[in-house]
Amino acid sequence: IIRTVHGRQIFDSRGRPTVEVDIILENGASARASVPSGASTGTHEAHELRDGDASVFDGLGVTSAVEHVNGEIAAALHGHDVDDQRAIDERLRNLDGTSTLSRLGANAVLGTSLAVCRASAVASGLPLYRRIAQLAGVDEPVLPMPMVNILSGGLHAGRGMDVQDFLAVPVAATSALEAIQLTSRVRAAAAGLCAERGLPTLLADEGGLSPGCRTGEEALELITESILAAGLQPGTDIAIAIDVAAASLYDSEAGDYHLRRQERHLSTAEMIDMVSSWVDRFAIVSIEDPLDEDDWAGWQTLTKRLGHRIRLIGDDLFTTNSERLARGISQGVANGVLVKVNQNGTLTGTLDVVAEARAAGYAPVVSARSGETEDDFLADLAVGTAAGQIKIGSVRNSERLAKYNQLVRIAEDPTLGFRNLPALALTADGG
Ligand code: PGA
Ligand code: ZN
Repeated sequence: IIRTVHGRQIFDSRGRPTVEVDIILENGASARASVPSGASTGTHEAHELRDGDASVFDGLGVTSAVEHVNGEIAAALHGHDVDDQRAIDERLRNLDGTSTLSRLGANAVLGTSLAVCRASAVASGLPLYRRIAQLAGVDEPVLPMPMVNILSGGLHAGRGMDVQDFLAVPVAATSALEAIQLTSRVRAAAAGLCAERGLPTLLADEGGLSPGCRTGEEALELITESILAAGLQPGTDIAIAIDVAAASLYDSEAGDYHLRRQERHLSTAEMIDMVSSWVDRFAIVSIEDPLDEDDWAGWQTLTKRLGHRIRLIGDDLFTTNSERLARGISQGVANGVLVKVNQNGTLTGTLDVVAEARAAGYAPVVSARSGETEDDFLADLAVGTAAGQIKIGSVRNSERLAKYNQLVRIAEDPTLGFRNLPALALTADGG
């Protein structure tokens, strides 16, 4: 039974305010959770409530969201059964009354929702991933294959490159620890190559390097060389994943994509040709957001062209939203979905999206945001939902390592398997 819900304003990995929530139960058990925040956010995400007072933290304060936690939310949940996650999340949605959680703030609602789950795990003596598996109806939790950021661009690196992420997927790994070791070798080799060539080795928002390559090909060549320099084989040891984050390239007035580094404007068809040529030439297993978040027709064409060869993952496209995912499934758009708790706003809503994806053969990838806290909920979420893949950022910075380290701890459970290459492979029909 919930006795107290207490919110406060803390700071994320970019030093921006975010919401943290403590829950205390009648029996004295307690738990805490905090809320991440994106930079290349999708238009259709749940609403992150910010104070907007430009004189304080550039308007990014969350004191009103915190007041909602300590006022309306605390009053509504006082005396509630902490084990009834679905009822609590519904209560929070109804209390808010808007579809995007804009009144109370998705940050206020999500912080509470995650803290409730953790409190219920503590109260029942279960590891968090076991509690999440119960809620998700998952019989066999599994450790996920990570996709690890090596080279960063876009809004996470001052637009030094047009494409946002080039990631390493350690497909040869047979355990979570080995996955971290293999990708760390690639990360170190990439830093070495950048230093040799006089390219910057400073960290981007997710701890990746930002070499400022002018084209996608140059970045793909650099990550391929890094894999080889680490003594590994592209494709068989380490595959490549890309997040184009194309919504941040889209020029809505011109109706095309602006690649600033090359001073080129590409149509949807040209974007599709460009990423297809990358897939032909490099060991790519997945591409996220290669087109704009509202370019459904373009996505459909692209999925017909590449969906049988690689995973096409919708992030800004789906925004962890059940209706948008359903539209994508019915229109043959994408075959994978990025899963971000704060795009959805509640844990239950997020679990529903994972279930919906799985039922349709869409690969779920549990993902962090570019702004994170030291909260490691995400690791348990990926394991408990048996999502199979996780995207945390690079193997740098404590807000990222908090999650990798939690995976290492969870991996001590000898009953858990690790999601390896065959499970990642596409079936013949692209599902
Ligand atoms: P964001 O980036 O958290 O800034 O949205 C992550 C992503 O695009 O996958
Ligand atoms: Zn993305």
